Order: sequence, then structure tokens, then C-alpha cells
Amino acid sequence: MKKVLFSALMCLAVSMLFTAPTKAAEVKSLRGDLEIMSPANVPDLPKLEVVDKFERNFKSQPPLIPHKSEKYNISLNSNKCLKCHDKKNYKEEEAPMAGPSHYIGADGKEGDKLNMGRYFCNQCHVTQTLSKELVENTFTSK
Ligand code: HEC
Ligand code: HEC
Repeated sequence: MKKVLFSALMCLAVSMLFTAPTKAAEVKSLRGDLEIMSPANVPDLPKLEVVDKFERNFKSQPPLIPHKSEKYNISLNSNKCLKCHDKKNYKEEEAPMAGPSHYIGADGKEGDKLNMGRYFCNQCHVTQTLSKELVENTFTSK
């Protein structure tokens, strides 16, 4: 019985293997119609544009970064952003502290240690630029 099931699964897997490429050809990504192995066309780094006060468009929007950030590396061993924005450094560095929400632990209380779910800052924060949207966006805050 097990053998029958196994061969049935193998047949299914093989037939999927043959139908997959036609499906993949229909998919269009932001990378364009490039072969998987060919390098993507990397766009120029957009110019930094700092506006005096960049309003947040909705409650709890991560604020944009008003300074250059491409050299501030984040790795397993170090996080340059924390050198200025961490609770224990921000006063000395005269930088705003990362939001209190970033220090809420598993117990739901604010502590002194960054919640590791917030470690990769640029997952949510990006530098202000003069760049065009990659896809059309009609969102308005009012
Ligand atoms: C050398 C210190 C320094 C480093 C490193 C640094 N920042 Fe900043 N950051 C500042 C200062 C100072 C400000 C206040 C605005 C200003 O003067 O540019 C600021 C402002 C910000 C703000 C805006 C806060 C608000 O309330 O609008 C965000 C978001 C931010 N930084 C995120 C980051 C991230 C993410 C990194 C790492 C990729 C980083 N910063 C690295 C000093 C730093
Ligand atoms: C999961 C998304 C997320 C990650 C990751 C994240 N942030 Fe934020 N950040 C936010 C949001 C949302 C806000 C605005 C509301 C708040 O404070 O929670 C914010 C606010 C801030 C502010 C402004 C605080 C204020 O008082 O207005 C700073 C500075 C900041 N973050 C820095 C950082 C740094 C540095 C890191 C990395 C160590 C980081 N953030 C990681 C979402 C994130």
C-alpha cells in the first residue's frame, strides 16, 4: 500500500516539474523579464532629500530617516544605528531614542533592552529620498 502511494506521489511530482516552467514564464516581477541567473539592473541610489518636517501619514507609521544611512551596517554582531539611537546612548549622541515600543519585552513591559524583533531597523525605516514609487500609489492620509 505504501509503495502505491509513493509512486502516485512521484507521478504527481514529475508532472508538476513539467508544468512549472510554463507557469513561471507568466510571472512578472519588478526585476523585469530577466533570466534567474542574470544580474538585475541595479538602479542608481536615490538622492537624499531632507524635508524639515516629514509628516507621518498614519498613526504608528515608522518615521523616515532624515540622514544618510547606507553606511550604517547591521549585522549579527553589531548595529550602527544603536550606537546613536539605543536607550543607553541617545542622550550622549544627541539623537532621538528609538521609540519606547522598541523596548517592550515578551512580558509586555518596557525594559532597557531592545526587543530583537526591532533589531533590523531598515526593515521599517528608510531614508528620505527623491525617488519615484516602484508601483503606482494613490494613498492619501485624509
Ligand atoms: C551618528 C549618529 C546616528 C546614527 C549612527 C544613526 N542615526 Fe538616526 N538620527 C540621528 C540624529 C541626530 C537624528 C535627529 C535628526 C537629525 O539631526 O538628523 C536621527 C534621526 C533618525 C530618525 C527620525 C526620528 C523621528 O522622530 O523622525 C530615524 C527613524 C532614524 N534616525 C533612524 C536611524 C536608523 C535606522 C539608523 C541606522 C541605519 C540610524 N538612524 C543611524 C543620529 C544617528
Ligand atoms: C517592525 C518595525 C520597526 C523596526 C524593525 C524598527 N522600528 Fe523604529 N519605529 C517603528 C514605528 C512604527 C515607529 C513610530 C511609533 C513608535 O514609536 O512605535 C518607530 C519610531 C522610531 C523612532 C522615533 C521615535 C519617536 O519617539 O518618535 C526612532 C528614532 C526609531 N524608530 C529608530 C529605530 C531604530 C534605531 C531601529 C533599529 C534598532 C528601529 N527603529 C527598528 C517601527 C520600527
